[in-house]
Amino acid sequence: MAEAGTLHDAFIDELRDTYDAEKQLTKALPKLAKAASNPKLRAAFEAHLEETQGHVERLEQVFESLEEKVRGKHCEGIAGIIDEGKSIMEEDFGDTTMDACLIAAGQRAEHYEMAAYGTLVAWAQALGHSDAAKLLQQTLDEEKAADKKLSGLAEGGINQSAAESAHPDDESEEPVGVGAAGGRKRSSGAKIGRR
Ligand SMILES: [Fe+2]
Repeated sequence: MAEAGTLHDAFIDELRDTYDAEKQLTKALPKLAKAASNPKLRAAFEAHLEETQGHVERLEQVFESLEEKVRGKHCEGIAGIIDEGKSIMEEDFGDTTMDACLIAAGQRAEHYEMAAYGTLVAWAQALGHSDAAKLLQQTLDEEKAADKKLSGLAEGGINQSAAESAHPDDESEEPVGVGAAGGRKRSSGAKIGRR
């Protein structure tokens, strides 16, 4: 019988899975950015794309620090999350509702990554790979910051605009809430009574 795998083997396996996940995300993030209407949201996806390219490189450094071959292994989890994001983008939603949905899709990916990096940091520490642990922690911090930024955009105006755009005769109005966290102004006094 083959020898049982060790935590080190599981660690390398998880690194390969995460490396593949990051690579999948470098292809998915431009699509999220393109589908976003709110300029701040688009900028957030674009900024995270750049960070994600850095995460790929950082994982390459981790493999090197462990004298392991740089190799990915298909990550089924992130593939599923990306697929769900794609189906959302095919829906017929108004701009702000779509933005709210894109944030939801982005945050699913962020939380998946936060879970992966949280485990990777803890395992690297347990295995005494302090250089790897430091690198992985840097990425974990960036994932958390990206997640917070998305929450800020959602709660700072996009969700509210999406909720208000549910009124059918708002459809013809300019997209509202863009760049305005909170207090949106109505262009037409005639609609105020309906709130
Ligand atoms: Fe990442």
